[in-house]
Amino acid sequence: MTIISNCTASIIKDAALALKVGYLVAFPTETVYGLGADATNEKAVARIYEVKGRPTDHPLIVHISSMNKLDKWAKDIPEYAIKLARDFWPGPMTLILPRTTLAKDFITGGQNSVGIRVPSHTVSLALLNEFDAQGGFGIAAPSANRFGKVSPTDAGAVTSELGELLQVKDMILNGGSSQVGIESTIIDCTKDQPIILRPGAITKEMIDSLLLHKVEKLNLDTNKISAPGLFNSHYAPNAKVFINGTPSPGDGFIALSNIPTPMGVIRLASPKNNGEFARVLYSSLNLADHQLLKKVYIIAPTGGGIAEAICDRINKASYR
Ligand code: TXA
Ligand code: MG
Repeated sequence: MTIISNCTASIIKDAALALKVGYLVAFPTETVYGLGADATNEKAVARIYEVKGRPTDHPLIVHISSMNKLDKWAKDIPEYAIKLARDFWPGPMTLILPRTTLAKDFITGGQNSVGIRVPSHTVSLALLNEFDAQGGFGIAAPSANRFGKVSPTDAGAVTSELGELLQVKDMILNGGSSQVGIESTIIDCTKDQPIILRPGAITKEMIDSLLLHKVEKLNLDTNKISAPGLFNSHYAPNAKVFINGTPSPGDGFIALSNIPTPMGVIRLASPKNNGEFARVLYSSLNLADHQLLKKVYIIAPTGGGIAEAICDRINKASYR
């Protein structure tokens, strides 16, 4: 496996060609790093599941270069979904739509819907465009971590998480630190009204104001859609995560910068606002593991907007 930091046009072409012949390419997006494979290649996609240790009935997101490619993968697209795509792509939003025959069971986990996203990162867009030029249709990519673990937000985290499991001709593209830091908002667009399945940086408030009505959030008790990010224990480091509790000396601590560090406690991050909180959350949890900390205390951010997505992730990280 090669890690590449200078993602020149010729490197991007090599990466697109590697994908085209069935290798895996981990690449940066603005949310988190993805572990990519040709979304039409069953064997390549099977390797994603193997490397991640992920159950095969859990669907993958197909990344496409632009809204123009949407019709290849999805049909019967409701008007509200077109509006969402128009306003928030490229960006941290995944739409779940009725699938075309191009989206095979090995991508959708056997569901009749498919998850689609246009990421907004120079390197991922360059890779997707080059992949199109090589005759590709889309790149399937879950977050580049082992199943249930913390998503990587830089190339170093991908390497320590999956490096040993990748093959010689697989690649890791280094595109710096992911600017959003937590996974995309997932919106189910298979019904008359959209439903938020996973909160993210495209917030409920942003969707409400675009669509001029209140969008629903998933009711965990009644919705049976299979989405691993919806399992309670997910996004979890090795350290035990506690929310709003009192840390003891030697424990890790993550809180907004206006909250002082309790005596003897190891400050892992001091984000100045909620956007920065999201950006540094996963790297701080990884740092706790590198320092072999047993416990991490997080003071949860409050309010709407992206705070909701941060609270969703730290709740999942803290569940045992
Ligand atoms: O920001 C992101 O979304 C990142 C980057 C790499 O794009 N990707 C990501 O992928 O978080 P993953 O596989 O870790 O999480 C994707 C989520 C899963 O919970 C999956 O079940 C859900 O999307 N999903 C995908 N297709 C679906 C479908 N047809 N119906 C319901 N959920 C779906
Ligand atoms: Mg994931």
